[in-house]
Amino acid sequence: MSEPVLEAKSLTKSYVMGGRALDVLRGVDLTIHAGESLAIVGSSGAGKSTLLHLLGLLDRPTTGQVLFRGSDVGSLSRTARSRLRQRHIGFVFQFYHLIPELNALENVLLPLMMKHSIASWFGAKSAERERGRALLARLGLSERAGHRPSQLSGGERQRVAIGRALIGDPDVVLCDEPTGNLDEATSREISDLLFELKQDSGKTFVFVTHDLELAQRADRVVRLVHGRVEPFVAAS
Ligand SMILES: Nc1ncnc2c1ncn2[C@@H]1O[C@H](COP(=O)(O)OP(=O)(O)OP(=O)(O)O)[C@@H](O)[C@H]1O
Ligand SMILES: [Mg+2]
Repeated sequence: MSEPVLEAKSLTKSYVMGGRALDVLRGVDLTIHAGESLAIVGSSGAGKSTLLHLLGLLDRPTTGQVLFRGSDVGSLSRTARSRLRQRHIGFVFQFYHLIPELNALENVLLPLMMKHSIASWFGAKSAERERGRALLARLGLSERAGHRPSQLSGGERQRVAIGRALIGDPDVVLCDEPTGNLDEATSREISDLLFELKQDSGKTFVFVTHDLELAQRADRVVRLVHGRVEPFVAAS
């Protein structure tokens, strides 16, 4: 098997609300290998998004470790963690999280703009716009580059969000309910697209999902239950 890209070791996460601790993750051990697709299922409130945020270095565990390519990211400064995230991790969310004032192309290019200083962005702009346009074409959105999110369908918005996740050429793409806001036919289209992109790129994909059809297309499915991860076996 290929080498681990992300590992969770004895991860716990507790939230303190109104003086009471809510223990959401109670010791998660999980190894995600380079190039695999992994689906994480579990009931609502099980802590799937919490786990994905920890794996994506958006949040820090209460105890335990997250390793990126074997290195403990917990010892890194906030800035070093953000840099690692920007370079290596792409996110796709259920509600797209696009910037309403920007058009599709600008939304896709946003992570690149954030990597640059203003001066270097203006220098790099035309090559990167070309990359953005090529990616939009790959996502079937050539005709939509100038549209704002409000002028796009849900499926198109999610395609833009997938473009934004991929533009920086990350190693790992973390998707939180990528089809959760879409009808059945559009969910199928988006899930086909994600698996095609995975196939073409060889990147690692992690899907948190309630969509069992999507989950079962992944190489491996785990379930989050009582704050721990266990292999998922579908009822036949
Ligand atoms: N920032 C927070 N502060 C306090 N509690 C939180 C916070 N984020 C999540 N929680 C709580 O942690 C639990 C797990 O939340 P999480 O969003 O990870 O679940 P989930 O499995 O993604 O659920 P869903 O399938 O509904 O998206 C929930 O009970 C939630 O209310
Ligand atoms: Mg969630």
